[in-house]
Amino acid sequence: MAPISSIRQPIIDYLVDPSKVAPIDQGQDVIQGLTLQQKTIPPHYLYDRLGSQLFEEICGLPEYYPTRTETSILQTSAPKLAQITGNCQLIELGSGSSTKTRLIIEAYQKAGYSLAYVPVDVSTNILTESAQSLLLNYPFLEVHGLVGNYYLALKNLPDNNLDSRLVCFLGSTLGNFDPKECDYFFNQVMTVLKPGDYFLLGVDLQKPMPILEAAYNDAQGITAAFNLNILQHLNWRFAGNFNLTNFKHQAFFNPEQSQIEMHLVSLGQQEVRLEKLDLTITLAAGETIQTEISRKFSLQYLQDYLQKQGLKSHTVWTDNDQWFALLLTQATNQSDPMLNNTFKAPQD
Ligand code: AVI
Repeated sequence: MAPISSIRQPIIDYLVDPSKVAPIDQGQDVIQGLTLQQKTIPPHYLYDRLGSQLFEEICGLPEYYPTRTETSILQTSAPKLAQITGNCQLIELGSGSSTKTRLIIEAYQKAGYSLAYVPVDVSTNILTESAQSLLLNYPFLEVHGLVGNYYLALKNLPDNNLDSRLVCFLGSTLGNFDPKECDYFFNQVMTVLKPGDYFLLGVDLQKPMPILEAAYNDAQGITAAFNLNILQHLNWRFAGNFNLTNFKHQAFFNPEQSQIEMHLVSLGQQEVRLEKLDLTITLAAGETIQTEISRKFSLQYLQDYLQKQGLKSHTVWTDNDQWFALLLTQATNQSDPMLNNTFKAPQD
């Protein structure tokens, strides 16, 4: 066994105060969402400790095809990706446990390229544990993690001294952004890319409705538990009295918006109080609270959209059914100046 002193430790920068567990504008976003006509709860509240565990379980469910499909695409595309970029700094937004990223890291190792990995995640524990384990497993790898949200991280990236920069955003998390947040996200990403740098995007594609709806209504009820847990999260964070048995999980495909929508349906007329926010809401029987959107894209739409952001398509990898895609794009020096950038980022 290596002596403790010779075990490499990752550099980790804490961009948020670790003693504040996701302060997220002290719940103003909850007040705003729950006082709209269509009540909403911002989807980041899905991810407290239990919510993150439930999401990990969702990724392994038979009905939830995105994770395994993206992994299978990465298995064949990672070696090609390494050949395209050569030595590079890899920034992963929302790195989580970095499981899929290992496929990318291994491809660079095999090809003999240098790789400086910058995982970005809001969870200190997950990021630290995975950064340490990556350093143990891959002696060639440099790791410099950033704990914080994407937008803070993009403003605090370590310098790149390798040939190119590759920002990757996997898991179709882009689908959870509404169009305004999408525009803001790309506006921020473009600030860290020089012409010729790369952006790799994993996205879920349009497909028959029954497949989509089954993925968000699994037989074991894990997605339902994940959805309902958002109320439990608000209860502990804001001293609330949501009674989870008074709500039911609902997820359906909205073809006009091409998105899965997750809601919680109120099973009767009820009043709910969030003491710390000094907020009381009433819900009618059958009224819903929207908790998440998950947009499903067409390849053509995405490629056109990315081009407008200043990201031209380099290579597209998909599975045989075209259920999921990995788009490798390259920064040009032009983006559409008319893009809407009015989105207000949390903690920005
Ligand atoms: C994280 N995100 C891409 C998942 C999705 O499919 O939109 C979240 C999720 N919600 C329910 N199941 C999974």
